Amino acid sequence: MGDAILSFRSPPGARASMGGKGAGLYELAHGGMAVPEWFCVSAQAAEERLAPVAPEIASILAEVDSGEPERLAKASGGLVALGADVPLPAATREAIEAALAGLDGERFAVRSSAAGEDGATDSFAGQLATFLHVPRDEVCERVAACQLSAFAPAALAYRRQRGADPGAVAVIVQEMVTSRSSGVLFTANPNGSLDELVVVAGWGLGEGVVGDAVETDTFLYDRLTESWRGTVREKRSRIVLDEESGGGTRRAQLPPDLGTRPVLGEEQLEALRQAAEEIEALHGPARDVEWAFDPDGRLAITQSRPITTLPRGELSIFDSSNIVESYPGVTSPLTFSYIRCAYARVFRDIARRLGVGRRERERNDDLFENMLGHLDGRVYYNLGSWYRLFRLVPFTGAYLAVWEEMLGIKNPRPTSAGTRPLAAVRGLPRAARTAGSLLWNLAFLTPVMERLRTRFGGIERRFRALSLDELDSVELARLYRSLSLELMDGWDVTLVNDVYAIVGSGLVRAALERAGAEADTFGALMAGDEELESALPAQSLALLADAVRSDARLAEALAEAAALDGEPGGAGAFPHHPDFARGFQEHLERWGDRHLAELKLESPSLRHHPQLLAGLILRQAESGRSAGEARDHRRRLSDEAHAEARRAFARAPSRRALFALALYIARRSVRYRESSRMDRARGFGMMRDLFRAMATHLEREGALDSAEDVFHLTVDELLGFVTGSGVDPDLRGIVERRRSAGRTWRADGPTRERLRFRGTVGSHPSPARAAPAAPAAGGGAGGGASTAPQTFAGTGCSAGTVTAEVLVVRDPSEATDTAGKVLVAEMTDPGWVFLMMSAAALVVERGSLLSHTAIIGRELGLPTVVGVERACSVLCDGDRVEVDGRSGVVRVLGPDDAREGAP
Ligand SMILES: Nc1ncnc2c1ncn2[C@@H]1O[C@H](COP(=O)(O)OP(=O)(O)O)[C@@H](O)[C@H]1O
Ligand SMILES: [Mg+2]
Repeated sequence: MGDAILSFRSPPGARASMGGKGAGLYELAHGGMAVPEWFCVSAQAAEERLAPVAPEIASILAEVDSGEPERLAKASGGLVALGADVPLPAATREAIEAALAGLDGERFAVRSSAAGEDGATDSFAGQLATFLHVPRDEVCERVAACQLSAFAPAALAYRRQRGADPGAVAVIVQEMVTSRSSGVLFTANPNGSLDELVVVAGWGLGEGVVGDAVETDTFLYDRLTESWRGTVREKRSRIVLDEESGGGTRRAQLPPDLGTRPVLGEEQLEALRQAAEEIEALHGPARDVEWAFDPDGRLAITQSRPITTLPRGELSIFDSSNIVESYPGVTSPLTFSYIRCAYARVFRDIARRLGVGRRERERNDDLFENMLGHLDGRVYYNLGSWYRLFRLVPFTGAYLAVWEEMLGIKNPRPTSAGTRPLAAVRGLPRAARTAGSLLWNLAFLTPVMERLRTRFGGIERRFRALSLDELDSVELARLYRSLSLELMDGWDVTLVNDVYAIVGSGLVRAALERAGAEADTFGALMAGDEELESALPAQSLALLADAVRSDARLAEALAEAAALDGEPGGAGAFPHHPDFARGFQEHLERWGDRHLAELKLESPSLRHHPQLLAGLILRQAESGRSAGEARDHRRRLSDEAHAEARRAFARAPSRRALFALALYIARRSVRYRESSRMDRARGFGMMRDLFRAMATHLEREGALDSAEDVFHLTVDELLGFVTGSGVDPDLRGIVERRRSAGRTWRADGPTRERLRFRGTVGSHPSPARAAPAAPAAGGGAGGGASTAPQTFAGTGCSAGTVTAEVLVVRDPSEATDTAGKVLVAEMTDPGWVFLMMSAAALVVERGSLLSHTAIIGRELGLPTVVGVERACSVLCDGDRVEVDGRSGVVRVLGPDDAREGAP
């Protein structure tokens, strides 16, 4: 039989006898974390004590595991009575007293630590007894009680439900932290992004926070943006020492000044973030940590265990750093569904162009479909798909580094196992095809790109010659199909050209550097190119502005045109300046698709909003360079750069020819890149007009309230409605939902750079909503401002959606008929595990994302929403509600919904 008392100083092998919590503390202490002094009464000590009644205990437990759940309470009574009959052996008592003499303070924490507790899958969160502020002379008694705490009814229920045996209970005796504030820290969001830390904090002892007995603040830390977001609530209570009884704890009213203050300040959050890092270094990722700050602001860690309920499955990584430039902010479903399709098409084509065979392309077809993700309304690259594509195409290794740099990817791709010789040989034909294609396209780039441009010009001319308003919606749908195919045909070569542009520019830059040219030479060489198509709209704008500078009347007319709100007059607004009007009109026709967020179909284009162009010209006239100055400036830069390059290579004539070749390749490809981007913008311009024309029909026919609503639909939904191949004819309903989602998304601030999920991506609460739903400011009960009156918003803690009847539970011991009901309560504790086992969902007024109830809810897979203010007063027994444990939305269903909700 081992020692009854173990501690920080015991050998590592002793951890096995300390229970899960004790072993965690041992490791924390050895890892240098600030753990309050403690010792442990071993699991063997408990076994030894209960040995005389072990056979009886075993037979009752066997009955618990296999028998009727209704008999749990009786079994619990029997077990506790059996245990109470055998006191702590005198030797154990003496050992405890002796160890206690080594601890400071007058009151202690006495905490159960079962062997099966704090495991990877079963937390036993809150199921076993913990006593705080226990006076010295009561410690033995409390240790004895902890040893029996696995026999409590709730613990037996948990054991039965999870098939988890807690084993013998070790007991931790620990110095008390006089906790000014305390709470829980999860080093990963339990049901959201793996890149988020979550902290739930309350005033006073942590018992109140983990037990949902006090009001809490929630703070989220985004590791990528390195920033905190918090939801601070009004707090009314805290758990403190019960001085009157001389020990134990009680719930007390908060002094008013604490109630409205955030529980944690910047410094404390930073201390927690650091602790999270240290603990992850020690214990690995995804930890559930309990902590407290003492009145001097010192942080103490009281527990670290695995998060039991992190989603499993494949890791998906989304990155916005590059694509956000093209699709800034919330991007409409119409745009996203269009570009998703376009990316799939173009990347399939480029894989073929670069020699990836049909079989291989088909085997990997999902990656083409998933080059992009749409999360919280924002567009992301799905990095996994990009890496897979790169792996499919030979020779991308070198390019990959460039691409990663472009994306700012700091921890590069998962290490590949290296190429095996046999695979390398098998890959040879494909490598040859790729190399051949790259060389062929490089050699014939000019004719290929020119042909693409000519063809594009033809498509655009034909499109612009059409009178879209004379086509009916079905004709427009047909036109969409043929136009999108035509536009994308052969477009993948522009990506090959991008590669040449990047590689060529890299070579030029390197050559200049080696020849000792000045650092900015490269930029000036490129920017000075008169033929860059991207420079042309700026020149046109500068010329128009020149005309305005010298003509006050024109400036006045322009200011009027810029202020126009409704249907703008376009070039017709300048009847007294026919030359200017012509230039204005020409700009609209040639460059009208070049504008802010031009690749988003919902963006206002100059073509449709000439007042925007009027505004641009005015601004240019006020503060920009004149066309002549701009041209001179560019030429001077370019001349200087050329002179600098000549000077640099005069000393290295052997490298001059190579430099000239690289410069030729780079300039040619940069030119084509700019012109193809312009054409792409024009392609989006055509699509924008086409969708608008279709939307006008739908508005006229009453399918949409307004033509603008079309952007809330996906391409398939829109065309499906028009052609009769759609499955949901209620376009207005779809629009309504999307509009409200859009409001939530837009309120979420800037797009995140990187998101990582495990398993089903859609099952994670979106980061926008994972922020604990703050009770709407001034909204009282009734949830967020964006939700309908019969909808209540809280914090979704455990995913899943159910529709069922409400049962408001005020006294859990009296609740009998809970099966299949949505339990609504003011607060819960882990003892509710009984009720939770049979319920359909749980909605709680108080509570937090990380409380014991939330943890158990997730372990049981029970949709759980906490923090729904006044749920008990606004919901009544028998109401039918839909609970979404992911988004935290509770919707009261009317009689119509009820029918619909029925299976
Ligand atoms: N030494 C201590 N000083 C102050 N608070 C403590 C101490 N030990 C535990 N607590 C608080 O009591 C809470 C419950 O204790 P714990 O033994 O972890 O029970 P459980 O297993 O139910 O989480 C902890 O979350 C912590 O906030
Ligand atoms: Mg705990």
